[in-house]
Amino acid sequence: MAANTLPGAVKIVEVGPRDGLQNEKDFVPTAVKIELIDRLTQAGFANIEAASFVSPKWVPQMADGAQVMDGIARRTGTIYSALTPNLRGFEGALAARADEIVIFGAASEAFSQKNINCSIAESIERFAPVAEAAKANGVRIRGSVSCALGCPYQGDVPVESVVDVVQRFAALGCDEIDIADTIGVGTAKRVHEVFEAVTKVFARERLSGHFHDTYGQALANIYAALEEGIAIFHASVAGLGGCPYAKGATGNVATEDVLYLMNGLGIHTGIDLDQVVAAGDFISRTIGRANVSRAGKALLAKQQNAIACA
Ligand code: HMG
Ligand code: MG
Repeated sequence: MAANTLPGAVKIVEVGPRDGLQNEKDFVPTAVKIELIDRLTQAGFANIEAASFVSPKWVPQMADGAQVMDGIARRTGTIYSALTPNLRGFEGALAARADEIVIFGAASEAFSQKNINCSIAESIERFAPVAEAAKANGVRIRGSVSCALGCPYQGDVPVESVVDVVQRFAALGCDEIDIADTIGVGTAKRVHEVFEAVTKVFARERLSGHFHDTYGQALANIYAALEEGIAIFHASVAGLGGCPYAKGATGNVATEDVLYLMNGLGIHTGIDLDQVVAAGDFISRTIGRANVSRAGKALLAKQQNAIACA
């Protein structure tokens, strides 16, 4: 374990509009996606994952990425990211003025096939021209390593497989790399092991933790990653989401819960928790989905009590 004290500040990447909404069964209207992103922008996020430029046959929910990116009110200093599995996706993201593109691979062969229909090696070949084009156009590039803590098809994923993909992403020139627990099976010990290994091959300050919360371990995993000196975390407002290619997986850890933790630890985020709670309430009510943020629900109940007692 790194002997670091916890970081004094972290970047929270809000992924609800993409990782969250991609999993909804009924199409979420473009105007609702835009309002959600605008509310999150106003809450102060420095990075919002706003859209995917993927095949609409594979993920129909993200088919309106261009309209979403066109309709949002951007804040200077906020990075609006978009997923791009291939050059076609990159062209869409570039035309939509994405500030950052995300190439997404996996540390598990089986998941790579299910999610992007190719092997890990083929995916890296496909990402190479995407990365080159991003560099040529001055667009930031992030690499996301799915199944870094376990795979729904393969089960255990060796730490060396994660290190291998991180090295390949590093060679492509990624500015940031996500260690993703796609199905939320990881526990704190494995988080320490994985970050200890990957920080040997990629800069600690450019690695992030992307934890889904299926087994309720995400906050413990974030704390373990903080102990490893990791200072970028992904979270989804109201705990929106799941994964279309990982049955039974729940959404990312809820943003409200992460902010509550960071506030309690005195770690700076620059984000207004009350506005995120309101955004979580807005999206949950609008799409008729349960709000699964514990902190979000508690804070909403507290507000309602205060109104009732006033
Ligand atoms: P394929 O079927 O092997 O490739 O899909 P294809 O080239 O034959 O394309 C199929 C069809 O899609 C064709 O249309 C293409 O034109 C079209 P048709 O000729 O049949 O009418 N197409 C596109 N359309 C729009 N934009 C594009 C695009 N590319 C092809 N960019 C492909 C391969 C990669 C395209 C497909 O598998 C795909 O789109 N997969 C995306 C899957 C996805 O988005 N998964 C969720 C995001 S990843 C995630 O959530 C994990 C993460 O959160 C981290 C974690 O938690 O682990 C990031
Ligand atoms: Mg995810």
